[in-house]
Amino acid sequence: MSKVAVVLGLNYGDEGKGKVSTFLAGNSDIALRCTGGNNAGHTVEFNGEKIVFHLIPSGILNKNTDAVIGNGVVIDPKVLFEELEVLDKHGVDLSKLHISTRAHVIFPYHIEEDKLQELLKGDDKVGTTARGIGPCYMDKANRIGFRVIDMYNEDFERKLRRNITNKNKLFDLYGFPLLDENKIVDEYLEYRDKMKPYVMDTVSFLHKALDNNKNIICEGAQATMLDMDLGDYPMVTSSNPTIGGIQTGSGLSANDITDVYGVCKAYASRVGEGPFITEQNNEIGDTIRELGHEYGATTKRPRRCGWIDLVALKYAVRINGVTGLAINHLDTIGKLGKAKLCVGYKLNNVIYDEYSDDIIGHENEVETIYVDLNTEFEIAGLKDYESLPIDAKKYIEVIENHLCVPVKFIGTGPDNDDMIIR
Ligand code: IMP
Repeated sequence: MSKVAVVLGLNYGDEGKGKVSTFLAGNSDIALRCTGGNNAGHTVEFNGEKIVFHLIPSGILNKNTDAVIGNGVVIDPKVLFEELEVLDKHGVDLSKLHISTRAHVIFPYHIEEDKLQELLKGDDKVGTTARGIGPCYMDKANRIGFRVIDMYNEDFERKLRRNITNKNKLFDLYGFPLLDENKIVDEYLEYRDKMKPYVMDTVSFLHKALDNNKNIICEGAQATMLDMDLGDYPMVTSSNPTIGGIQTGSGLSANDITDVYGVCKAYASRVGEGPFITEQNNEIGDTIRELGHEYGATTKRPRRCGWIDLVALKYAVRINGVTGLAINHLDTIGKLGKAKLCVGYKLNNVIYDEYSDDIIGHENEVETIYVDLNTEFEIAGLKDYESLPIDAKKYIEVIENHLCVPVKFIGTGPDNDDMIIR
């Protein structure tokens, strides 16, 4: 029987999905990305060096694992080839990479448009990663985007010139510098040729792999609360980084998925703007940021930090059908001495134990109800659950009991091996 394991972020991204994905990829024939683009980022240690992945599934580092960039992903070819160059230097077999014919392509005008749209939003800006992700998905929905396969169509150059002309009109209107049409066309004709060996119908490739009892690991990007439909709209990304996006972004069916691992931290963090009910915009948040090294892998921005929110997590667990949890940074929370876990909200004198429409849109007025726990423990690098101090176990058990899902992975340090597997 084949297995399809999915790794998803349960909060606002940066939960440490890469660590769990890398572990699971060890037993997988295929590592798959289904949504987002190079707004994601995680670092993996390989041959004593750190490799940062934004686009290519990191599972490609395993000798026997193929990597698939699925149809739901948006690809910046410049970033793709930068990553391939690094992998090539490390001797990774690049023929194991397969790129969907239907994935959409990011162009320089998407990146400029991302910056322009943010400026136009003024104080309401989303705080995007400025990688052109939103505008690329906008063009996809507007049916003026280019799928990878469209780059090989005889109409490609004409349509690309049309798009650049139209985007330049927009940039001109707002006093943005105009893009060099010929330069972009030349660049992308070159990318198209370089990309060709990797391009294939990945939907059919994945279906055949399942027919042949292969195992697949889906490396989620971003996270549940950044989901365009189910997150804190409009402070979200422009894709569906929840379980539904895994299906539409790959062509796998709901019935194919056997395990859903939801990843969170023992505290919470967020980059960019938007609600964050348990945020500690104070000394506690600053301490968590320093202890947990909470600075963005993609943009280097300092992350906003706060307490774990079990109400929002319960919502994320339910939406994604999580079958096992991964809790990272238990070692970090152990350095704080004391910690709080949010188990309820209070709004207009009503107590809520679920994240609902009543809460969404009122996040800034919500009061939090916390459980306090002692968290003074040193667990750096521990590998087995039984060796955890009682307070560390209690922390895990409170989460487990509240969310009614077993905790399968516990992060006990920054390295990929610093993990308890239950
Ligand atoms: P975009 O995805 O660049 O459009 O950004 C939209 C929002 O999602 C912003 O708040 C970003 O900071 C956030 N975001 C996008 N990708 C990630 C990620 O991989 N980790 C954390 N936040 C992200």
